[in-house]
Amino acid sequence: MEQKNILIINGPNLNLLGKREPEIYGSGTYEELLRFCEAKAERRDLEIEVFQSNHEGEIVDKIQQALGAFDGIIINAAAYTHTSIAILDALKAVGLPAVEVHLSDLSKREAFRQISYAGMACITSITGRGFEGYAAAMDVLAEHWENSAE
Ligand code: DQA
Repeated sequence: MEQKNILIINGPNLNLLGKREPEIYGSGTYEELLRFCEAKAERRDLEIEVFQSNHEGEIVDKIQQALGAFDGIIINAAAYTHTSIAILDALKAVGLPAVEVHLSDLSKREAFRQISYAGMACITSITGRGFEGYAAAMDVLAEHWENSAE
């Protein structure tokens, strides 16, 4: 199979990883998350681009630009997960296979975190596995491509 290209999108406040509520999100920094994703992608022979924004419209723009440029999306929309119909609509509009990731275990958190709009356009959601969730999402996409090539 030819090399696949994944867009990884991280939403608001994830740039503060390491400093931000480490008891919930862990002590690894955003820089460390980038290096983690690059190492995991390399091992799987995947190309990745990682994009972070604190702005909903920028995330919508980036998803739109993914059409024709990427084979799949991994998205941690952070707080926009629970509010943004615009991000859901953008994911549906481009129709690329997408996987939702959350560092924390949303099922054990506040009621307002129990709804995920972004997740409604995703193959699956991986939550509560910290950085490993991004590697697991790469595996879900790889399996998806394999199955759709059959
Ligand atoms: C998060 C969970 C969201 O509820 C929260 O708003 C975040 C991070 C996670 O990765 O656990 O910013 O997406």
